[in-house]
Amino acid sequence: MRPGRILVDEASIATRLVEMGDEITADYEGKDLLLVAVLKGAFMVVADLARRIRLPIDIDFMGVSSYGVATQTSGVVRILKDLEQEISGRHVLIVEDIIDSGLTLDYLRRNLEVRQPASLEIATLLLKTGIQRVPIEVKYVGFEIPPDFVVGYGLDLVGKMRNLPYVAVMEEE
Ligand code: IMP
Ligand code: MG
Repeated sequence: MRPGRILVDEASIATRLVEMGDEITADYEGKDLLLVAVLKGAFMVVADLARRIRLPIDIDFMGVSSYGVATQTSGVVRILKDLEQEISGRHVLIVEDIIDSGLTLDYLRRNLEVRQPASLEIATLLLKTGIQRVPIEVKYVGFEIPPDFVVGYGLDLVGKMRNLPYVAVMEEE
C-alpha cells in the first residue's frame, strides 16, 4: 500500500480551516473556550485550526487509541493520556482529525460529559459519510469524504505518513 490520489489538497485544507475558524470565533465570542485535541491524529489540524480562531483559547490533549495495527476499528477505546485540566463549567470543543465509525468520539463524548462542561461540541476535519455505527452530532465538519482509508495531515497507517501536508487515499502498489 502507498499514498495515492490526493483527496484534499493543502490549499483546500487551509481555506476550509479559515472558514471553520471564523465560525468558531463567532460562536464562542466572550466564552471560555478549551480545545481538546485527540492525539495523535488531530495534532496537525488543531495547530492550524487554533491559529484561525481569533479568541484567547486554551488547548489540552487527550490521547486515545481505537485502532491496533489494522485499518479497521475495534470499537475498544483506550485512554492513553487524560486531560491535564478540569473542564467543569468550561466550553469544550473536541478537535478530531476524522470520524469513521464514530465509536471513539461517542466514547470520548460520554467520558467528558460526566465532568460537566458548560458545553461540549465536536469539530472534525474529515467525516466519512454514512458509515457511523452510532449517531454522532458534529458541529463543525471540514470535509465529508467517501469511506476509504486515507492518510496524511495527521492521519497514519501503522504510525507512518502523518506528516504528508495533504490527505490522500491509500492504494495498492
Ligand atoms: P472511529 O472510532 O472509527 O470513528 O475512528 C476514529 C479514529 O480512527 C480516528 O480518530 C483516526 O485516528 C482513526 N481513523 C479512522 N479512519 C481513518 C483513516 O481513514 N485513516 C487513518 N486513520 C483513521
Ligand atoms: Mg484520531
